Amino acid sequence: MYFCTIFLFYASSGESPSPAVHYLALVPSNVEFTSISKMSTMTAITAFPPRPSRSLQNKVAIVTGSGSGSNSPSEGLGNGRATAILLAEAGANIVCADLSLPSAQHTVSLINAEFGAGRAIAVQADVTSAQDCSNLVQAALDAYGRLDILVNNVGVSGPPGNAVDVDPSAWARGLETNVSSMMLMAKYAVPAMERNDLVEGSIAGRGSIVNIASVAGLLGGVPMLLYPTSKGAVVNMTRAMAVHHAPMGIRVNCVCPGLLYTPMVAGHEMPPEVREARRTGSLLQTEGNAWDCAAAVRFLAGEEARWITGAVLPVDAGMTATLPVLTGAFSTLTADPPS
Ligand SMILES: NC(=O)c1ccc[n+]([C@@H]2O[C@H](COP(=O)([O-])OP(=O)(O)OC[C@H]3O[C@@H](n4cnc5c(N)ncnc54)[C@H](O)[C@@H]3O)[C@@H](O)[C@H]2O)c1
Repeated sequence: MYFCTIFLFYASSGESPSPAVHYLALVPSNVEFTSISKMSTMTAITAFPPRPSRSLQNKVAIVTGSGSGSNSPSEGLGNGRATAILLAEAGANIVCADLSLPSAQHTVSLINAEFGAGRAIAVQADVTSAQDCSNLVQAALDAYGRLDILVNNVGVSGPPGNAVDVDPSAWARGLETNVSSMMLMAKYAVPAMERNDLVEGSIAGRGSIVNIASVAGLLGGVPMLLYPTSKGAVVNMTRAMAVHHAPMGIRVNCVCPGLLYTPMVAGHEMPPEVREARRTGSLLQTEGNAWDCAAAVRFLAGEEARWITGAVLPVDAGMTATLPVLTGAFSTLTADPPS
C-alpha cells in the first residue's frame, strides 16, 4: 500500500530552520521515514550544480612585489608577501617576484618551511622591464609547467606634489611602476594562461588576474597626484581587461585596500597620532594589515569567484562606504540633545 507524502528537509545548521528541499513522493507505507529522508537528501545534493572549491591545488601563481617593502628582507608583512603565503596555504605553487631577491627569497623560505619544499621559487624582476616580465612568466612555466593566477601587486607611493609641483620625470616613472607594469605582466601571462584547458562545464576557467589598486583610486583627498591617478587607472584597466579576456575564460578583478599598516606605510615613520587617525577613519575602527588584503585576493583568484570578473573590491573596513563629513553631521544629530 502506498500513500502520498510531502517531505520538507531542513538545513541541519542555522538557528531558524529554512526549508531546503520539498519532495512529493509515493512512499510505501512500510518504509521508515528516516531511511527515505536520507535517500532523498543524497539525491538532492548530487542534483545541485558542481560546488566551487576553495582549494588551489595544482594551480600556479605569480605574485609581483612579494618580498617586503621593509629595509630588512626578513622583516615585515607587505600585501605581496601575505598574498603569496595565503595562496600557498590554499595549495598553489608560487613564483615570488621582487626587485629585491633576498626579500623574495625570504618569502619563499617561509612558504617552503610551512607548506613543503619546492612549493615556491624566488625570481628577481623589475616589473617595469618587458624582458623581466617575460622571463618571470617563463620561470613559472619552467618550474611548474603552467600559469593560472597573476597577482599584480607592485605599487609605489610615487613622487609628492600636485599638478603644479610634481616632477614630470618622476611622474612618468611612477605611472610605469604602478600601471604599465600590470599591462606588461598581463602581456606575457595571458598567453600562458590561454594554454590551460577550458574543460567543458568547468568552474575554474583558464586563469585569474588580480590587480592591486587602492581606495585612493576611488576617491580624491590624497595630497599627491601620482598615487590616486595611477590607482584610478588600475581600477578601470581592470574593467577593460575583464572585457578583453573573458572570451578566453580569464577573469580580471581588482582589490582596493584601504589604509592598511604594511612596511610601505611603516617605512614613512608615521607618527602614532596619524596611525590612530587612519584606524579611526573607517566604519569598523580597526587597523587593517596585509592579511586582510591577501584574503580578498585569494578569494578572487580561486574558483569561489568563478562568476566574478571586472569587479572592484574595496577592502577598507568600510572607509569608502560613507562620507566622513556627513557621518560626523549625523552623529551630532543622533547624540543626546544639549540640556
Ligand atoms: N599599505 C597600504 O596601506 C596600501 C593601501 C592601498 C594599496 N596598497 C597597494 O598594495 C600594494 C603593495 O603594497 P605594500 O604596502 O605591501 O608595499 P610594500 O612596499 O611593502 O611592498 C611592495 C614590494 O614591491 C617591490 N617592488 C617595488 N617596485 C618594484 C618593481 N619595479 N619590480 C618588482 N618589485 C618591485 C618592493 O621591493 C616591495 O617588496 C601596492 O600596489 C600598494 O599601492 C597598499
